Amino acid sequence: MDGNGRWAEERGLPRLAGHRAGTDNIRAILECCVELGVEVLTIYAFSTENWRRPRDEVEGLFALMTEVIERETEELHRIGVRVHHVGWLDDLPAHLVQAMETAIRTTSENRRFTLNVAFNYGGRAEVVRAIRRIVREGVAPESIDESTIDRYLATAGQPDPDLIIRTAGEMRLSNFLVWQSAYAEYFSTPTYWPDFGRANLLAAIDVYSHRTRKFGGVLTA
Ligand code: FPP
Repeated sequence: MDGNGRWAEERGLPRLAGHRAGTDNIRAILECCVELGVEVLTIYAFSTENWRRPRDEVEGLFALMTEVIERETEELHRIGVRVHHVGWLDDLPAHLVQAMETAIRTTSENRRFTLNVAFNYGGRAEVVRAIRRIVREGVAPESIDESTIDRYLATAGQPDPDLIIRTAGEMRLSNFLVWQSAYAEYFSTPTYWPDFGRANLLAAIDVYSHRTRKFGGVLTA
């Protein structure tokens, strides 16, 4: 969800106003995804590297996330969304941990749609943690294959992402689902996240639908 800062700066507003506009956009895109039959959406809200931002911005983001999670949980539950956290709750303020835990608990039985909220998340650290757990549990080295790693990630049991959309013109993965996205299709758009609407989502899906996915193989007739 890149470009919140630039969106705000171009309007002479503080960066947090951009994050607020970006947050307000999540619901519209999520509803669009549900309507289109998408089953899993992962939003990258805060990376482990984002701690390097000014303290005011980090605290403002956490306050905003808490507010939104608390406000949206009932409605997400009503429309059949399961909220899942990708990342670690360590080091986060108690109000955010509590809001997230309540959202996860309230929506845990929903099966229509999974909303992964990636915050305090980094893909490489996720793989490191998975390996530590595998070793700690004494899993036999010969029995480890790719599906073993899959099962120890925060996305265990979920399909790999088909399409990764990055806004604001950036062309990097930025430590997002590094293991899971090995064969994901990538789409970058210059549109800032707060301006990324239904038409942009449909355009991304249209581009995706014309890609040929071979997963390293060749096309067979
Ligand atoms: C990137 O834009 C955006 C973020 C680091 C924060 C995104 C978080 C939200 C929109 C809040 C999500 C809310 C919930 C409930 C999960 P940027 O600041 O890097 O923009 P810039 O590159 O233009 O400066």
